[in-house]
Amino acid sequence: MQIRVISGSPKGEKSVTLQYVRFLEQAFPEHTFSVAHVGQEIKTIERQEEVWNRLLAAVKESDGVLWATPVYCMLVPAQLKRFIELIGTRNAAETFSGKYAASLTTSIHFFDHTAHAYLHGVCDDLGMRYAGSCSAHMQDLEKEAFQEQLVLFFSDFLEAIEERRPVLREFPSLPALSSSYVPETPPAAVDTRGKRVVILHDAEPGSDLEAMVRHLTACYAGSVQVAHIRDAMMNGGCLGCCRCALENTCIYDDGFMAFWRRYVVAADILVMAGTVRDRFFSAAWKRFIDRSFFSGHVPAFKGKQVAYLVEGPLGHLATLREVLTSLVMTEKANLAGIVTNEPDPGEIDAALQALAERSVRLAGRGYIAPATFPAVGGHKIFRDEIWGGMRATFKADDRYYRQHGLYDFPTWNYLQRIGTRVTSLAMSIPSVRREVVKSMPAYMIQPLQKSIETSRVLAERRKRR
Ligand SMILES: Cc1cc2nc3c(=O)[nH]c(=O)nc-3n(C[C@H](O)[C@H](O)[C@H](O)COP(=O)(O)O)c2cc1C
Repeated sequence: MQIRVISGSPKGEKSVTLQYVRFLEQAFPEHTFSVAHVGQEIKTIERQEEVWNRLLAAVKESDGVLWATPVYCMLVPAQLKRFIELIGTRNAAETFSGKYAASLTTSIHFFDHTAHAYLHGVCDDLGMRYAGSCSAHMQDLEKEAFQEQLVLFFSDFLEAIEERRPVLREFPSLPALSSSYVPETPPAAVDTRGKRVVILHDAEPGSDLEAMVRHLTACYAGSVQVAHIRDAMMNGGCLGCCRCALENTCIYDDGFMAFWRRYVVAADILVMAGTVRDRFFSAAWKRFIDRSFFSGHVPAFKGKQVAYLVEGPLGHLATLREVLTSLVMTEKANLAGIVTNEPDPGEIDAALQALAERSVRLAGRGYIAPATFPAVGGHKIFRDEIWGGMRATFKADDRYYRQHGLYDFPTWNYLQRIGTRVTSLAMSIPSVRREVVKSMPAYMIQPLQKSIETSRVLAERRKRR
């Protein structure tokens, strides 16, 4: 069979993910693999018609398409995102329709599931038959047990193609939203109380997003900095070279770093306004997000209020919502709100007004919502990965993790370890065990009682403020 591999890594032949493809190529010599280095050659693919046509012709001739890509910032790299956008804008879905597809990623398993869900949704939209996914840790190929699973994954994919396995669509098609937001209610300008408000956007002239940005800007009294992300003058997407790892500086000598410092770093309240293209923010936004990787695993939005304006059917895009909300949380910021252009204009006006008020209020109070699973789990992944090996090269991350006590392994809490050991020994005495089991709920709330007693002190302090 002919397998067309669409490789999303900007590193081309030096891609980690591509080594997994090469492994499969050796393991299945009876099948032919051809690789399109979409991530590396996106500029050429976009500019040269014959390259684009050749690529499509190879997809057309193939029996199956394997999306092989690294996970970049919870999704696929911006370059692959751009390629997927081009399929839509150049009406090339027909070429992909009916083809069997599967996705193979490498990552450190931080939001790999959202990258796969995105690709799955895109395949559904293109009319492809999505037959399965394989998410590998970037070093998994070294393990024989994983190699066996990889072979099984690919065998299953080949069988799906061979037996023309029926595949159901998993992600319902998206509703088309017509551009119709015209504000109805005049904004009541909110005093920003010295907080710096920045709105970054990718709005097209005359779009709903542009109108939302304008209306939100008017909801804040005082100066609001509004900038189009194209003004960051990026020369390209993140190359995945990781040369930023030592000192958190990017090798690109373009406008991005200055733009980042001027707007993102300076903001107390940061609003990111994005247009949905296919199933995520535009490739331009994705490129901006990928380029922020120069700051490694140091939380870039720490302490800020962050909000989103979305032009597109966010209510039908659970994966996009998950990425947007988790990004804020893992960067140690607070999500002040999300406003989309889905409801009626009056509701959008009210939501924008409420967003302005809430963001200023929360910025003043310094509220950062406690993290939930994505950030708690993410922290443990990064902590273990950085400590476990990455720190040899990701020096800036290592420094930050040390300085901020982020190497918080439970094994380093000696008091707790002694307590656990003592309790564990005591539990081997039958009478103690009986007593503890009987009073388990009481033991669980006992350490919290002291905190409840201090709540009155906190309330008094709040009143005095
Ligand atoms: C810009 C950038 C963003 C990344 N984002 C993620 C991420 O969100 N989750 C994750 O698990 N790994 C992430 N990684 C790690 C890569 O997924 C991993 O190193 C992958 O194996 C690289 O594959 P490649 O060599 O094929 O490009 C990121 C790496 C880079 C350079």
